[in-house]
Amino acid sequence: MEKLIQLILVCVLISIPASLEENLARRGTVTQSSTYYAFVAQNAIDGLRYGSGEAAYCSITEYQLSPWWRLDLLDYYEISTVVITARSDCCPYQTNGAEIRIGNSTENNGTNNPICAVTSGFQLGQTISYSCGVMVGRYITVVMTGGTYTLTLCEVEVYDTENVARQGTVIQSSTYFVAQNAIDGKRYGPGEAAYCSITAYQSDPWWRLDLQYKYEIGTVIITARSDCCVAQTNGAEIRIGNSLENNGNNNPR
Ligand SMILES: *[C@@H]1O[C@H](CO)[C@@H](O)[C@H](O)[C@H]1NC(C)=O
Ligand SMILES: *[C@@H]1O[C@H](CO)[C@@H](O)[C@H](O)[C@H]1NC(C)=O
Repeated sequence: MEKLIQLILVCVLISIPASLEENLARRGTVTQSSTYYAFVAQNAIDGLRYGSGEAAYCSITEYQLSPWWRLDLLDYYEISTVVITARSDCCPYQTNGAEIRIGNSTENNGTNNPICAVTSGFQLGQTISYSCGVMVGRYITVVMTGGTYTLTLCEVEVYDTENVARQGTVIQSSTYFVAQNAIDGKRYGPGEAAYCSITAYQSDPWWRLDLQYKYEIGTVIITARSDCCVAQTNGAEIRIGNSLENNGNNNPR
């Protein structure tokens, strides 16, 4: 049986990997609940993931109740990824079990903000990337709650969503509203479909973006139309790869 549907994409946003993006943490200011010896909060945003086998380039708090470290980005960003590096000489437990919280509040030392992830599994000198989906906020707080701990962070990197879709070219299986509307940089218009791509009502409709270059894709963000018809955006497969075979439908999902 043929399935007749109309495919609508209002906005497609694709983020590129951390390695190609600007680390926003370096624009910010930092503070922490207490400072062990000279291991200041700044060491976690100095641009060095770690020094040669030691903790010299890490931030370390005192051994205390609920230690925290906080970054103020000085502006709001759509944060997609937080990358943390543990010290390489010892003590990965000083980096495990910490909540990463992102938001606008400094209340309760930032622990009221929504949570992106809880760190775990760090080994000596390891760097782990945490995906936050999209979280909008100004403060990144890393906190160990519910006990007495030392919090050590050798580097905290923060990346926002950078939309590479806008540099691409688009095509779709048929056109009711043009494919370009989905990469015009506008998530939606004022209550209407004017800024959306819409195919004709057809069998197996598709929309395809050619990024022009190969990327490691981090996140794909899609916005539905706001006036009606969410069914026209639901149930679509997102496929990513290098093949145009079968209109790109043979690429991994
Ligand atoms: C922070 O403020 C921005 C701008 O007002 C807002 O878009 C965002 O949703 C807020 N974040 C949280 C977690 O409340
Ligand atoms: C915030 O952190 C400081 C330093 O650890 C602590 O003394 C204070 O009690 C904390 N405040 C709250 C509300 O958790």
